[in-house]
Amino acid sequence: MELNREEKEMLNGKFGPSKRRAMELLYEYGKALGAEKLVATNNVHMLIGFYPYPEVIDSYHGEALVSKFFLDSDEPIEIDRMESYNTTHIWAIDLEKWKQLGASEDLHRIMEILRNYSIKKGISISATCTPYQVGNLPMRGEHCAWTESSAVPFCNSILGARTNVETAHSAYASALTGKIPLSGFHLDNNRLATHQVDLLIDLTTPFHWNLFGYYIGEKLQLGVPAVKIGSKPKPDFNMIKGFNAAIASSGGVQMYHIEGFTPEAPTIDSAFGGGKPQYILRFNHQDLIDSYEMLNSGNEKDVQLVILGCPHYSVEQLFRLSRMLEGRKISPNTRLWIWTARQIKEIAVRNGYAAVIEKSGAELLSDSCPLVTKGIFPKDAVSIATDSAKQAHYAPAITGCRAWMGTMQDCVEAAITGKFKGEQTWKLLS
Ligand code: F3S
Repeated sequence: MELNREEKEMLNGKFGPSKRRAMELLYEYGKALGAEKLVATNNVHMLIGFYPYPEVIDSYHGEALVSKFFLDSDEPIEIDRMESYNTTHIWAIDLEKWKQLGASEDLHRIMEILRNYSIKKGISISATCTPYQVGNLPMRGEHCAWTESSAVPFCNSILGARTNVETAHSAYASALTGKIPLSGFHLDNNRLATHQVDLLIDLTTPFHWNLFGYYIGEKLQLGVPAVKIGSKPKPDFNMIKGFNAAIASSGGVQMYHIEGFTPEAPTIDSAFGGGKPQYILRFNHQDLIDSYEMLNSGNEKDVQLVILGCPHYSVEQLFRLSRMLEGRKISPNTRLWIWTARQIKEIAVRNGYAAVIEKSGAELLSDSCPLVTKGIFPKDAVSIATDSAKQAHYAPAITGCRAWMGTMQDCVEAAITGKFKGEQTWKLLS
């Protein structure tokens, strides 16, 4: 892999030890990816506060901790300030409500060390899996280094910016140096569609688009699907947010096209750049049902926990949720957790949605995700409900719970009655 003069100087230590180590990592990484060179990036979505193992990292402090976990160095390195604009992914705890949720003092202490250290180094603590909702909105063609699997398809497909799914290490090295290997979805050819998906039915809710994404991810695993949507209804923002998370859960899809909708597919042919699809899938009503059956593991009507906000809820979703919860109370046998970015929560507080939501007994949470906040998952939870395909996919494996997948409305009803009845869900599937 060719390095330019500035990159060689970084590698030789001219810009200090942390940039040298970061460039060493990027150089090895780029060679492994078969990249011919690095490219400049000024947009990194970093994975900083995601270490749910205090017992492992307790023996490291300050620079030793960061050197070990982000630059893979046994020697403590004095870390420079970040070169690139950056924002952070979720943290292991809600940085404010951690105690109320039962997270340990140890974990909180480590998160605080990391948070204070990161701010000093020029890391911008946004703490969300949806950076595009809170001020990190790259432009078309912009080279980025993002870590979250559900945000990557949004970056590539909806914004037309360019990123691969990065790791904590590669993103940290990119933020320090302002570089990322020119490979994968940074290159024009790799962005062309490989498979066609003909959409044969109307998909009109986030629930539908979650199942559609889950179907495509499951069928393709990898690849770049192009959806032939014809005159069927186009998705809105919340449908796309769930679709992205689903397509990257059952599979590893990082980019897709939707004919006449996403910026690199004004037509279905242009998505293929003159090439032909490897094969064509046709998504029909039976596929919708099959996708649900593959995903849904709920069987007990009683649910002890309802999880909304995966990916982190938008302002509109909180607005709708507050309408559904107005004047109602959550069952004493069930908890309702809603996750959102702290910046969005602030808007919900200002507009009164948060007060309505919390008055019902639900908990509006930020900075983290129910699947990574170690030690807070309710011990009595054996059956949960969620409106997210991603959550329904991962929760059983991570927590041992069975998960009902349903609409937001049905999840709210489950939280209020303590039972998942799925009335709207079954209607949408019928
Ligand atoms: Fe975000 Fe956690 Fe879902 S990181 S996308 S809320 S699994």
